[in-house]
Amino acid sequence: MKLPYSEPWRIKMVEPIHVSTREEREKWIKEANYNVFQLKAEQVYIDLLTDSGTNAMSDRQWAGMMMGDESYAGARSFYHMADVITKITGFKYITPTHQGRAAENVLFSYLITPGAVVVGNSPFDTTKGHIESRKATAIDCTVEESKNSQLEYPFKGNINIEKLSEALEKYADKVPFILITVTNNSAGGQPVSMENIKAVRKLADKYGKKILFDSARFAENAYFIKTREAGYEDKTIKEICKEMFSYGDAMTMSAKKDAVVNMGGFIATNVEDWYEHAKINGIIYEGYATYGGMNGRDMEAVAIGLEENTEFVNLESRIKQVQYLAAKLDEYGIPYQRPAGGHGLFIDAPKVLTHVPKEEFPAQTLTILLYLEAGIRGCEIGYLLADRDPVTRENRFGGNDFLRLAIPRRVYTNNHMDVIAAALKNVYDRRESVTHGVKITWEAPIMRHFTVKLEPVK
Ligand code: F0G
Repeated sequence: MKLPYSEPWRIKMVEPIHVSTREEREKWIKEANYNVFQLKAEQVYIDLLTDSGTNAMSDRQWAGMMMGDESYAGARSFYHMADVITKITGFKYITPTHQGRAAENVLFSYLITPGAVVVGNSPFDTTKGHIESRKATAIDCTVEESKNSQLEYPFKGNINIEKLSEALEKYADKVPFILITVTNNSAGGQPVSMENIKAVRKLADKYGKKILFDSARFAENAYFIKTREAGYEDKTIKEICKEMFSYGDAMTMSAKKDAVVNMGGFIATNVEDWYEHAKINGIIYEGYATYGGMNGRDMEAVAIGLEENTEFVNLESRIKQVQYLAAKLDEYGIPYQRPAGGHGLFIDAPKVLTHVPKEEFPAQTLTILLYLEAGIRGCEIGYLLADRDPVTRENRFGGNDFLRLAIPRRVYTNNHMDVIAAALKNVYDRRESVTHGVKITWEAPIMRHFTVKLEPVK
């Protein structure tokens, strides 16, 4: 008998978590203005708000932290991290930043001017924020298949090449770079195929444009290429990563995801001019060029985490856990973005809460109901997160409206997955009785989902 997969690690340290009562949760979510970002973490039982910075580090990473070099300039830990990044990505110029959005801030401060048009697949919320706050726009050319959650399509993160071509033709000189987000978070943690990346490179060359990877979950993307794309089954994850990045010019990285750390980020590129400007902006906004907002020990942990998480077994156990949860939801008939993404499941809320009008935010409503049911905190990746159109100030209801259940790396067991699935089933079974959602009582002009105040419509 073939043995099933299992985690390539065992547990050495645990952190207690607590179950609360429904009465407590009703009080807490009201106090939080029905916004789960405003809850205290202790009011949460299983926390699926994000897989960002919520990972469990390995003993090797913790040991590395003790060896961190805290020198202001030229720290050994910086060179260790830079060497690993160059080995995995092929990019030789490295600018550390404290997290992914800081990398965006540093690089976009140079590349994006008012009126610029960034084209590519879906920019994540902070990326979109860093584009729109500079009076520029982002055009999301993600394939149409991503809009139909029930369609099985292996690379829903892909860019529609025709749409990209049209956008490049139309905006020509206004395009500072083409953005490829791997995996495509907003579309459901969905991967981009190597074939698609190559096609984008071809177009980029035709129009003389550079490609920037938003690579927060690049290793998960490589896992999907290996397991789904013909010709890559025998390649190692590291080989696939190297090839992927060879078609790009630069990357911004939130190390809080695929480097399996709690904090960190960087920009890596082979474009000398981008690097020179990033270095200067980095010094202004983040810190000196060889630490950029990170402690030496953080850079050590990133270096080790990147090595570990570009090994197949590590990614396999992580993604198979997401697929384990997906199989449970299949059993209960709960609709999510298919096939399951790399870092979590994205429940198609309008398909569950069919009586809740879009103006009353179905995914946010489902997020609240799941919290009330079992103290499980998911996160809305939908109409609230989409913000208002910067010009018309209308809500943007054109995209997906997901409740995201993001699974932190190496943190929860499959027993937790069973609890999550059961809680969601209980909510699902009551779906017909849910006729109203929530309304906004206060919102920020941009990135409103973090701080929005809501109340039940009825
Ligand atoms: N790019 C992508 C694709 C992301 O998912 C994120 C963060 C960032 C950039 C920004 O990185 O948080 O280090 O500043 N996503 C988190 C999430 C917050 O929950 O998906 P950061």
